[in-house]
Amino acid sequence: MKISVLGSTGSIGKSALNVISNFKNCTVIGLSANKNKSLLNKQVKKFKPKYIAVGINELKNISLIKEADIVLIAVVGSSGLIPLINSIRLKKRIALANKEALVIAGELISRLLKKYKAKIVPVDSEHSAIFQCINDNDKSQISKIILTASGGPFRNHSYKNLSKVCIKDVLRHPTWRMGKKITVDSATLMNKGFEVIEAHYLFGIPYDKIEVVVHPQSIVHSGVEFIDGSIIAQLGITDMRLPIQYALTYPKREYSSIKKLNLAEIGKLEFHKLSTKNFPCFELALSAAKISGSMLTVLNAANEVAVKKFLDNKISFIKIPKLIEKAMNRHKVIKNPDLEDILKVDFETREYVEEIAR
Ligand SMILES: NC(=O)c1ccc[n+]([C@@H]2O[C@H](COP(=O)([O-])OP(=O)(O)OC[C@H]3O[C@@H](n4cnc5c(N)ncnc54)[C@H](OP(=O)(O)O)[C@@H]3O)[C@@H](O)[C@H]2O)c1
Repeated sequence: MKISVLGSTGSIGKSALNVISNFKNCTVIGLSANKNKSLLNKQVKKFKPKYIAVGINELKNISLIKEADIVLIAVVGSSGLIPLINSIRLKKRIALANKEALVIAGELISRLLKKYKAKIVPVDSEHSAIFQCINDNDKSQISKIILTASGGPFRNHSYKNLSKVCIKDVLRHPTWRMGKKITVDSATLMNKGFEVIEAHYLFGIPYDKIEVVVHPQSIVHSGVEFIDGSIIAQLGITDMRLPIQYALTYPKREYSSIKKLNLAEIGKLEFHKLSTKNFPCFELALSAAKISGSMLTVLNAANEVAVKKFLDNKISFIKIPKLIEKAMNRHKVIKNPDLEDILKVDFETREYVEEIAR
């Protein structure tokens, strides 16, 4: 089996290469990164891929995708969109970690998946869980999807406290170690909003049948409730190598040396209703989802610029949703946008948020 790992120097990319190094019948055919050339060089020495790409423009070079049996898309942000579209057009099996591409262009991606009959196996732990729970069940028998959320580092904070948090506080996620951008998105709960949108497009489930439940231990990765009231959930330790491995071996399972879950040791699992009072980003994501079309492109582009500004210490944590809301309020929605519309809206939104954040 030949695998290309796009975003190999990131948190998911590194975990994926760790998983792949334990597989005997796997060849890494392509690797890509953006700036971290020294790590990419080390990976190239170890895995000897035929194709290497550096930077977003190079990702348009489709050789990495063409020769792969599986394309793992683990780049961050909108840079995942073109590789995802190229992988679909080439009818590849796609292991998708990059959720932003589905947020930006969910309708377009759904149309292309149908047209080219390509397959996405999700890597995001919640969506991998839902994918495993749905399995061969008839989708018409699903009454709802239960998407679990750790609640992030500020679950019990007051809004007054949030105005004072610094980058270090935000990057201290209680249960997962991830790249910086998704860690900020987890703290604002934008990540959970993105995951609702991701679930809607991946599984074709209406928004009113997707429920978010806070589960601080992050052991139940998500579940599905069926019309008879049965809930099937997937459990595991908080290690992304588990969903990555499943996305690569699906529909089979392979032995893994990853630490097994010991339920008796964990003892207690808690579930709470989600309070979004202090997390306007979650509400903005749901409102963009309901409007849909190009509003979702605006949501993502504005969020990417705002998060980068926060990480560069240019704006406060609570300014992130304010910038996104302004960008959404001025946007005239395009229904069923094509790729050209999406790229234009993405560009214009970034320019606008850059300007108002100054
Ligand atoms: N981390 C997790 O546990 C997790 C869980 C679920 C879903 N995800 C999703 O998986 C994706 C990756 O997350 P991550 O945490 O692994 O991110 P990360 O650690 O920041 O890694 C991002 C990867 O993308 C590359 N990259 C960044 N900008 C790029 C650009 N403009 N063009 C091409 N490549 C670019 C980076 O290259 P350089 O290192 O060279 O800059 C790096 O290899 C995100 O969409 C995230 O939402 C992550």
